[in-house]
Amino acid sequence: MHFPCLSFYQILAVFLRHIFVSYKKYPQYSSYLEILNNSKRKGENMSICSEKAIIYHQEKINEYYYSLWLITQVASTARAGQFISLYSKDKSRLLPRPLSICEIDREKQLICLIYRINGEGTKEFSHLQANDEIDILGPLGNGFPLQDKPALLIGGGAGIIPLWELAKSLPGEKILVQGYRSLAESIFPKEAWNPFVNESYVCTEDGSLGEKGNVLDVIRNKSLTAQVIYSCGPRPMLKAVKDYAESLSIPAWISLEEHMACGIGACLACVCKTKHKDKHSEVHYQRVCKEGPVFLAEEVDLS
Ligand code: FES
Repeated sequence: MHFPCLSFYQILAVFLRHIFVSYKKYPQYSSYLEILNNSKRKGENMSICSEKAIIYHQEKINEYYYSLWLITQVASTARAGQFISLYSKDKSRLLPRPLSICEIDREKQLICLIYRINGEGTKEFSHLQANDEIDILGPLGNGFPLQDKPALLIGGGAGIIPLWELAKSLPGEKILVQGYRSLAESIFPKEAWNPFVNESYVCTEDGSLGEKGNVLDVIRNKSLTAQVIYSCGPRPMLKAVKDYAESLSIPAWISLEEHMACGIGACLACVCKTKHKDKHSEVHYQRVCKEGPVFLAEEVDLS
């Protein structure tokens, strides 16, 4: 997920930050989170909490990526495909950083986030150490619906991150295909998925790891099939996955990676074009942070 540096967003962020901080000080602001919680996708039993999470562990896992484990109540209700907003301690960096949830350990109340440094905010997070505290808000967005059918999981680049918890959570047979630009940018070794999936494939654009090519090349070359597809990655890859799924009439759930600002549905910085008309504004857009980030592929326009 990425962040535009626009003054409008900074003004909005001041307002949101004020609400966030005030909520922690004054009980009357509890209605703010109640509104957030009441507007979740119908049928999902989740609650959003704002809290100071404690760092359990952090390590640099390769040249680009860090894995950050937080001790947080969010672990009680979070689901695969949702995300958490992390707040910088530096008040000049007002917007929260939304990070996809990689893994959930409900028993130990732990959440794992995997991220790379994209700016000063994530650079600050990379210095966090065990027992440090950080303000967070989550879980946010709607996650992947879990269907008990043979599933094909397709992740591209950092889009592979939310598929880890999904692979752990899905009950049926699973095939996993992960694609990266190169070995240096890869996150999970092919074998790491063995405990959770029936088959695992990896490919890179330059051929430095696994098959040479993209995820659709692997799927076609290996004749991989499924009754449901789950995918997350860059938009061109999701477009190719959507077209592939439609050509075979397979339902596909895709998680969009859009620019975000507020992360809670207030600023409309993250809208995407959909089939559905918003009943208030009468336009065919939905908020990725609120109605998404997971959508049924046939409902969104990726052209
Ligand atoms: Fe503000 Fe989605 S980021 S509405």
